[in-house]
Amino acid sequence: MKRVLLTLSVALCSVSAWAQPTLVRVHDAATNQPTISKEIYGHFSEHLGTCIYGGLWVGEASSIPNVEGYRTDVLEALKALEIPVLRWPGGCFADEYHWRDGIGPRSERPVMVNSNWGGTVEDNSFGTHEFLNLCEKLGCEPYISGNVGSGSVEEMAKWVEYMTAENGPMAELRKQNGREKPWKVKYIGVGNESWGCGGSMRPEYYADLYRRYATYCREFNGNRLYKVASGASDYDYNWTEVMMKQIGRRMHGLSLHYYTIRNWSDKGSATEFDAAEYYRTLGKALEIEPVLQRHIALMDSYDPEQRIGLLVDEWGTWFDEEPGTIRGHLYQQNTLRDAMVAALTFHVFHRYADRVRMANIAQIANVLQSVVLTRGEEMVLTPTYHAFYLYKPHMGATRVPLDYTTTEREVSKTRRVPALSATASRATDGSLNISLVNPDLEQEQRLVLQFDALQAREVQGALLTADKITDYNDFGRENKVGLVPFKGAKVTAKGVEVTLPAKSIVTLSIR
Ligand code: AHR
Repeated sequence: MKRVLLTLSVALCSVSAWAQPTLVRVHDAATNQPTISKEIYGHFSEHLGTCIYGGLWVGEASSIPNVEGYRTDVLEALKALEIPVLRWPGGCFADEYHWRDGIGPRSERPVMVNSNWGGTVEDNSFGTHEFLNLCEKLGCEPYISGNVGSGSVEEMAKWVEYMTAENGPMAELRKQNGREKPWKVKYIGVGNESWGCGGSMRPEYYADLYRRYATYCREFNGNRLYKVASGASDYDYNWTEVMMKQIGRRMHGLSLHYYTIRNWSDKGSATEFDAAEYYRTLGKALEIEPVLQRHIALMDSYDPEQRIGLLVDEWGTWFDEEPGTIRGHLYQQNTLRDAMVAALTFHVFHRYADRVRMANIAQIANVLQSVVLTRGEEMVLTPTYHAFYLYKPHMGATRVPLDYTTTEREVSKTRRVPALSATASRATDGSLNISLVNPDLEQEQRLVLQFDALQAREVQGALLTADKITDYNDFGRENKVGLVPFKGAKVTAKGVEVTLPAKSIVTLSIR
């Protein structure tokens, strides 16, 4: 990987020193900077709990307002986010999903037991057409996760043909089912977590299966596929090494999953936590950086030209399920802490933008770190939703390197949380956008932004914070967490002076 251009000097010191002003040098004249792939702001939707049924899809006959079966409120919220890519149908579900069960008249589709997630019985009313039409409505790329664990090579090959061929038997079947033109499908995942729920395979065995399945994922009528191999979880560097060695350039992308799980038997409450637990969560979230570094170093040694993308196609917080909800449905609330995790993680992805080409937060609705939660007719936008909204200017922008020195809070022997985290990019409209995170629960942060080239004339910003770090938005009451205009930045002779409130996330647009 190319040198990481953000130089972050750190010093360990007491919390009181966190209030010192910080000089942030913005190298806005730097050249040869990578594009921050817009797909880094991608999403993931699995047949799990009420992510699909109830979250995205209610069916045309529902009394919940909908457009052709898709919830109107969720559709509008996701359109406003301009989501670039949506992964489906799993997750673990993908390796038990047989796509033919989800096409044709809905009344004739077989029911199935979702054995991964609570044994819920599903009627397959949301299938290939419903998913790909949703992506078209949202204007996003579909990312199909194919079944390697319990599906055949032929099944996957025919699925690709059904979705993307203009002519031939699969295209005819699709046309009979009401879709004349093929869809455009770029991303195809060849299995998911093949070391675990996707088949409990050894990496050497999976690598050979990948080669076999991927061979028959054909490109029809100019549809170019981007084939993604099932990757490692967290610290499994051996998996990445075997993939690079045995698959190499036969894959376009290799996935990685990273969650902030404390421990599997006690993940902690999503809403009830103290300051120590808050910082611990941020420390675990930030540990994605050394994890990425090691996976990337391995990829670099086999692929120095960086042709193969690293796709963090599942990431986010994973807490205990909310009391009273169905076990196995992974429903959790979402506080300002989740927004902090999201923002800090975006900064890490930006730092490795030359290798990290996609990331998909888990998951889009009602599961884990969702951007929307629904209950019957109601919907709330979570703090994580607002973090995604705040970072929209960085999607597809060119990274701008920064230099600053910050202090750090030690949360464990190996984990630290910086007093300030910053990232910057230049959008195609020429605007310079800088996002700043002050994770401290008590102290505000003062800083000065100095530019190599820009003579700043105007600064505007938006702020995401709340009274308490445990605040969240819930049904039937006024929202506690949302975006407001930011008044704490001004252009001065020194550059742009900023006062960041405690526990805040800000994006500034500077001209
Ligand atoms: O996102 C929930 C689950 O986490 C996914 O189904 C699986 O891939 C991962 O273990």
